[in-house]
Amino acid sequence: MKGIILAGGTGSRLRPMSSIVNKHLLPVGNYPMIHYALDKMAEAGIHDILLVIGKPSAGLYVDYIGSGASWNVQVSYKIQECAGGIAQALGLAESFVRTGEKLLVLLGDNLFEDSLKSFVKDFETSEKGAEVFLKKVADPRRYGVPDLQNGRIAHIQEKPEKPPCDYAVTGIYLYESDVFEIIRGIRPSARGELEITDVNNVYAGEGRLGYRLLSGWWTDAGTQLSLQEAGLRLSGNKEP
Ligand code: DAU
Repeated sequence: MKGIILAGGTGSRLRPMSSIVNKHLLPVGNYPMIHYALDKMAEAGIHDILLVIGKPSAGLYVDYIGSGASWNVQVSYKIQECAGGIAQALGLAESFVRTGEKLLVLLGDNLFEDSLKSFVKDFETSEKGAEVFLKKVADPRRYGVPDLQNGRIAHIQEKPEKPPCDYAVTGIYLYESDVFEIIRGIRPSARGELEITDVNNVYAGEGRLGYRLLSGWWTDAGTQLSLQEAGLRLSGNKEP
């Protein structure tokens, strides 16, 4: 299985800090944020990883990660010229993945406790086209939210006004290589981005979207508050 870490985008909710250095290089606990996604990939047994980054700070990623040797993995880099959405960033990985190969995708600002090792192993032999990971949250309106019907995801709403449940779709995804064909078929949303939720809804519509529940803590460190919370958890395992 290949690994893709998406660390492009603008990080606008973390300005002014993210104006100086890209959001995924900001300190969380004792390390820059991006460190943890690499830890999770390595722990899951994924050795071949593509990191998608924006142009600003690109050299700093190479300074910190290099070839990936510190994690015992092989890291390649791809530049996302402008923030066209999560699915657009993922589309840049097409030439990195062979047809029939599966992929684990992590959003670089998602920090979490669970090991993905067993999920990755199960997905290798799964018939599902894609799998998403859900976590109960206090404010689902900030996230993609699943509409669960008869034990399956019928549809995902992106940042709904009236969430159908209190689960967030986290930024951890498993896909078949046909995800790239699906990305080519979707159109930009009202905010002008290719949305990962639209990609996942294609799988849901075809009855090919599975889901798992995360049991440990999870946070999307995209805001000042969640960044601070994540720092507390990762530096001393304290409850924020
Ligand atoms: O964190 C989970 C949430 O992430 C999901 O519940 C949502 O369904 C999903 O759309 C996403 O929402 P966000 O609003 O948090 O996405 P954001 O724009 O903050 O981007 C999250 C990560 O994706 C970020 O760490 C970098 C990467 N990204 C984002 C964009 C827009 C890219 O690599 N390129 C991009 O163009």
